[in-house]
Amino acid sequence: MVEELIAQLRALEGEGREAVAGAGAAADVERLRVDLLGRKGRLTGVLRRLGELSAEEKPVVGAEANRVKGELSALLDERDAAFASAAASGGVPRVDLTLPGRARWRGGLHPVTQVVDEICEIFHDLGFARVRGPEVETAEYNFTRLNTPLDHPAADMHDTFYLQDGVVLRTHTSPAQARVMEMFQPPVRVVVPGVVYRRDPFDASHAPAFEQLEGLAVDEGITFADFKATISSFVRRFFGPGAKTRFRPSYFPFTEPSAEVDVSCRICGGTGCSACKGTGWMEIMGSGMVHPRVFENVGYDPERYTGFAFGMGPGRIAMQRYGIPDIRLLYENDVRFLEQLS
Ligand code: DAH
Repeated sequence: MVEELIAQLRALEGEGREAVAGAGAAADVERLRVDLLGRKGRLTGVLRRLGELSAEEKPVVGAEANRVKGELSALLDERDAAFASAAASGGVPRVDLTLPGRARWRGGLHPVTQVVDEICEIFHDLGFARVRGPEVETAEYNFTRLNTPLDHPAADMHDTFYLQDGVVLRTHTSPAQARVMEMFQPPVRVVVPGVVYRRDPFDASHAPAFEQLEGLAVDEGITFADFKATISSFVRRFFGPGAKTRFRPSYFPFTEPSAEVDVSCRICGGTGCSACKGTGWMEIMGSGMVHPRVFENVGYDPERYTGFAFGMGPGRIAMQRYGIPDIRLLYENDVRFLEQLS
């Protein structure tokens, strides 16, 4: 009996609360007051049953009834006052027109996206089209067609996300080279930005998913000199007229010869600092002359065509440009951080 009455009171409280909040006018508040707390109202209905309780039970339910009554009448008063003050101001809510406006928050492009766009624009001026390749790739395109045998360390289960046998999350944007060459005959000049995936731990200098940007130029008579000139002019446009470029011999299965491209450190200007580990240079891309076997794999005549290719990490380049010490900052989506770079 006591429990039943208490439960009724609580239900009344909940429903009353909702009804008061939903009242649209002073008249609604008045009607609710009568309905909930009036002489023939719902609370009175519950109180009428107090007589059925024992002398010990009465005060328990009585106290709860008082609490609910106090609660609801305070809410009703509050709504009443709100409608009264709205009426006093002619029904128009009071607005302080002298307050400064609230600026609307405007979104912006992520710094890595900005860097990608900027790089693509520079290459656009140099005659390169911007294309995309699939993020879910076949091992055939990701490795084999790029002259990388499946027993190459890069193809290892430990370095690659295999979705199923022969299907991977691409570990680099280079497979787009093969796809573009199979679709178009030379001359070909493309840049291919996109996300790539590796089974790397997420630490200050690695992320399991990050942006890459591939470049490819193929035609008759393209030489290493064309390659150096193209990359050097990109570096000057992107990093500034004083930026120097250095080509270091390297190895990639899909280029011959291969080179690592360094740019003079943007932080110290080349004298050596902690950002460039004292060398004065920062590595920005892997590159080289397209391997004849890659041409064979895509059906280009390696006797007739030559070309160069490169792959860079716009995230890393953004870090170098803005002096960002930890790659994770780029992926946390903390707007306070991202806003500083736009
Ligand atoms: N795909 C290479 C990587 O992910 C980067 C690369 C090196 C791309 C040389 C190229 C290239 O196109 O010629 O590390």
